[in-house]
Amino acid sequence: MGTRNSLQLARRMAALEPSATLAMAARAQALAASGVDVIDLSVGEPDFPTPPHICAAAEAAIRAGKTKYTPAAGIPDLRKAVAADYTRRSGLTVTPAQVVVSNGAKHSLHNAFMALLDEGDEVVVPAPYWVSYAELIKLSGAKPVLIPTRIEDDFKLRPEALAAALTPRTRMLLLCSPSNPTGVVYAPDELAALADVAIEADLAVIADEIYDQLVFDGRQSPSFPTLRPGLADRTVVVAGVSKTYSMTGWRIGWTICPEPLSKAIGNLQSQETSNPCSVSQHAALAALTGPQECVADMRRAFEKRRDLVASRLAAIPGVRLPEIGGAFYAFFDIKAALARGTNGITTSAAWCESLLEKEHVALVAGSAFGAEGHVRMSFAAAEEKLTAGLDRIARFLGA
Ligand SMILES: Cc1ncc(COP(=O)(O)O)c(C=O)c1O
Repeated sequence: MGTRNSLQLARRMAALEPSATLAMAARAQALAASGVDVIDLSVGEPDFPTPPHICAAAEAAIRAGKTKYTPAAGIPDLRKAVAADYTRRSGLTVTPAQVVVSNGAKHSLHNAFMALLDEGDEVVVPAPYWVSYAELIKLSGAKPVLIPTRIEDDFKLRPEALAAALTPRTRMLLLCSPSNPTGVVYAPDELAALADVAIEADLAVIADEIYDQLVFDGRQSPSFPTLRPGLADRTVVVAGVSKTYSMTGWRIGWTICPEPLSKAIGNLQSQETSNPCSVSQHAALAALTGPQECVADMRRAFEKRRDLVASRLAAIPGVRLPEIGGAFYAFFDIKAALARGTNGITTSAAWCESLLEKEHVALVAGSAFGAEGHVRMSFAAAEEKLTAGLDRIARFLGA
């Protein structure tokens, strides 16, 4: 008998952290279930119902018996619709064979990392970063190299910082614009400058564009591969229906990449999960091919909430935040409050704990996103809830 317990976890599990955002949401829900009036602004999930025509398409799919296995990479009509939608919006022609539909964009990211990364490869990830990136990269055996960015630069990675982070092991750059957690949207020239470094260093690029349609003030969020000729040959675009169509629970996302890689991702998925849910694929097809007013309506609602949240937060003495150009997050600097050390609170995690305990508002600590001294507030919530939450946050900060 060895000393290893029969259910001892594999080594890869040792480094794996649970999702901090989901953990905070679970705590807020437990508190709410005990009767406390909790305002949960922790999770990145649109609060709107999935539009009715999308739900109707799913019901019709069930009635028509579309409830069996599908091709591993997705039903042909959906792959076609994703390719057509991307081609129309980006101006870059892609074929259905370049698209693999997966169980949410998180799964798409996992597939891309597993298909491209070897043990010891390095992936440059600008921080603050979305919580799952580092964990998914580690699961693949590769190493996330977290590069801090500055609020003065709107939390954007500068090309010099990218160049300085490169080592002989650097294999990939990961970009997210519009960004979770900061809400910042890179301008085309800023992305092009990063593309030049990536081309020079022969890097693969993962462009997480899941929030690309949630942009404000008439902005466009350019798709990364459009910025330089040949960039499409080294880029995997990740997107999906979760945020654009308020379909988080349906679990449909996708990768768009050159064909040999997309085939490999499809093969990987065929062994891991077979196909994404058949009914959800039909719902996503209706989302992409049906009326798009719902997207514009939700964008307008988010923009209004952005105005409210950004102006209220900026008015609190000591609070700083970048310009929120898209997505539905405010990522603000609370270093002034932490420096005061009131009640011994000196970390963003302790600050969030105390805010939940005293004011019953759930936010997520910046430390979970690789940026201590900040917190993330989701504004995917009704205006009354946001106003009440902001009142409580301001009170907690002594404003
Ligand atoms: C930046 C980013 N990428 C990917 C995802 C994953 O999306 P999905 O729900 O489709 O898995 C999220 C969800 O929060 C996200 O914020």
